Amino acid sequence: MNTQKHIVVLTGAGISAESGLSTFRDSGGLWDNYAIEDVATPDAWRRNPGLVLEFYNVRRQAVRKAQPNAAHFALVELASHYPVDIITQNVDDLHERAGSTDVLHLHGVITKARSSVDERLIYELGGNDIKLGDVCAKGSQLRPHIVWFDESVPEFAKATQLVKKADALLIIGTSLSVYPAASLIDYAPDHCPIYVVAPDLNTVPDNIIWYREKAALQVPKLINHWLELGIAAPFPR
Ligand code: OAD
Repeated sequence: MNTQKHIVVLTGAGISAESGLSTFRDSGGLWDNYAIEDVATPDAWRRNPGLVLEFYNVRRQAVRKAQPNAAHFALVELASHYPVDIITQNVDDLHERAGSTDVLHLHGVITKARSSVDERLIYELGGNDIKLGDVCAKGSQLRPHIVWFDESVPEFAKATQLVKKADALLIIGTSLSVYPAASLIDYAPDHCPIYVVAPDLNTVPDNIIWYREKAALQVPKLINHWLELGIAAPFPR
């Protein structure tokens, strides 16, 4: 195990696409079929909590049925050779189910519910739906443990600290179009190479090494290549 150099991985919906979970902005993605302002904002929750719950209940069932793919498993292998921290925008639990341990969920986790009056009251759902009338210990309606648009991202500061210390940054399956997550790339130190695996990007940042491939093929290929070359391989600069 190389204890000196540290790899930070930022993942988005694309890493789970080949597990059968829809991305958001690809053609036919979730935001083609639903309006963000109807299902993923505090305002939507105030106007129509039943619709918001239904949207996340359907997605939770899809997550429950999905299995981690070769890209999730390759990251577990990577972590047995290097210190690895995963920052994910995904609300699925496929990194954890593959066996990854250091996973920071920037946008929450769909397998949990939380109180709508006290964000410290968080409950495991175990795959169950949240229904209107399900309440927290303080008697108020449970909501999905998800960071919605127009809400702050409580884990962002922690994520910036990780990226600031990265010796290599591996970005997988994100369009880099949602802030503040997309700005994490700006916190990478000068010496830190940035590898991106995604068929398309919203904007292409400067100085990245871009693999325009799908994650389940390219991530294991890249990680195997690094492991064959030796421990310095991800850190060429
Ligand atoms: P997007 O849907 O915006 O972007 C998905 C990215 O994955 C695109 O760049 C695709 O090219 C890429 N992609 C598609 N299939 C892939 C595959 N098989 N392998 C690798 N890459 C693939 O998803 P995110 O960037 O994750 O937030 O979206 C960020 C946030 O926007 C989400 O966390 C969610 C959403 O609104 C909230 O809901 C708060």
